[in-house]
Amino acid sequence: MIRFQCDYAEGAHPLILEKLIETNLEQTVGYGEDPYCEHARELIRKAAQAPEADVHFLVGGTQTNFTVISAVLRPHQGVLSAGTGHINVHETGAVEATGHKVLALPSDDGKIRACQVRKAYEDHWNDADHEHVVQPGMVYISHPTENGTLYTKEELKSLYDTCRELELPLFLDGARLGYGLMSPASDLTLADVAAYTDVFYIGGTKVGALFGEAVVITNPALKKDFRYLIKQNGGMLAKGRLLGIQFETLFTDGLYFQVADHADRLAMKLKTAFLKKGYPLRYDSYTNQQFPILPNSQLEQLKGQYTFGFWEAVDEAHSAVRFCTSWATKEEAVDALIRDIEEMNTLEIGRAGMEDLAKIGQMEAEIFPDAWSEKALTETWEQKTSVMITARKDGELIGYLIVYLVEGEGEIARIAVKQEKRRQGVAGHMLLELENICEEQKIGRLLLEVRESNLDAISFYKDKGFTEDGLRKAYYTDPKEDAVLMSRELGR
Ligand SMILES: Cc1ncc(COP(=O)(O)O)c(C=O)c1O
Repeated sequence: MIRFQCDYAEGAHPLILEKLIETNLEQTVGYGEDPYCEHARELIRKAAQAPEADVHFLVGGTQTNFTVISAVLRPHQGVLSAGTGHINVHETGAVEATGHKVLALPSDDGKIRACQVRKAYEDHWNDADHEHVVQPGMVYISHPTENGTLYTKEELKSLYDTCRELELPLFLDGARLGYGLMSPASDLTLADVAAYTDVFYIGGTKVGALFGEAVVITNPALKKDFRYLIKQNGGMLAKGRLLGIQFETLFTDGLYFQVADHADRLAMKLKTAFLKKGYPLRYDSYTNQQFPILPNSQLEQLKGQYTFGFWEAVDEAHSAVRFCTSWATKEEAVDALIRDIEEMNTLEIGRAGMEDLAKIGQMEAEIFPDAWSEKALTETWEQKTSVMITARKDGELIGYLIVYLVEGEGEIARIAVKQEKRRQGVAGHMLLELENICEEQKIGRLLLEVRESNLDAISFYKDKGFTEDGLRKAYYTDPKEDAVLMSRELGR
């Protein structure tokens, strides 16, 4: 099984493990005051071009989020965040457990805009009862967002300018910051992130470390007593040097950026493969998380060999899923997945929509001497008793089945498959779908007629459990021919 479910499936970069082993028996002071933490802080300040910043190491993302947020807010304040923000939907109410409400703003792409922050602020202060509701006290964003989207430099700067004007500290959750900075779509640098936020963190857990997040506080007003708060929130690791060693390694010779770049590059290969196959994307992500929308039947095919995350149902037959690459993802694993995507059987069985009728009319004319006109098809489509099942391959309509369901019986009027797509099981799949419909609607019997000379079709139906019930003389015209009557009892 190859895992694309998350970006923390592997341990740590080998250089980190080597350094941990090399320093294992050294004795240092605890709680992050050792020389490794100090050196890592220096390296991070340098990389972020923020010589005055305070840098603190915590263990995980949720812990970092609630520690920073509860440190910044006063008791009556809450934090503005996208509704999709990790603190709002995936942290078990950790922020709320500190006594601060998350004030969710609507967002479809995971981002929030400066104008939304301004509006939330003004709505609060223009409310005559504002003292009776939670006051917005800071702003939380994630970059990349939970949806893999990125803030542009312009957007971040504009958010920061608004936040400064409104005196709302801006906090950036960088659990996947490396993957954001190295994205081919990014115009932000680490120095920009430091310049246009009040506090942010550099995620290690998802980007090469065993665990650990580095909080960078650039706003002097937020620095006071932060270590007390880390300790009070259970985030001060006694063997703090384990964090220092990891970030020192990640920020030596650009390792943090190299490993993130690797994951992004592989994710872009995957993205291209999904698009080439014709699968739309739920979010247009240029980071290590990709969100293709696939037919559920094809997800079943992939499940045998790969793990990935379910994101949301798009309709009855399609789901958006999440594939993550990481700093440790092997190129061979991505190539294997791409091969399987390319070879995936993309047959989709569904119901005809009005927009399919012209295409079905064309196929009728190509296949049947007594072709139904588009008008006749439209009338049939509009009838309550008729069902039109379609088969598509790579998005193209290649087959259809028309049936009338009346008084417990299903009369199959047409089954057609494009000449070049025959003998690939397409008609069988449409028939299976018909059986499901019959089961739902308590239909006990299927009936059909077929030209006596159409031996292939007769043998197909026999194979599917139909029996010959007799002949209807001279049923067909153009050319004139007898019809074989066939039927099949369905188990109720
Ligand atoms: C944006 C973001 N922030 C924070 C976290 C929380 O990290 P942890 O699971 O280490 O608490 C995650 C985890 O997926 C995340 O995606």
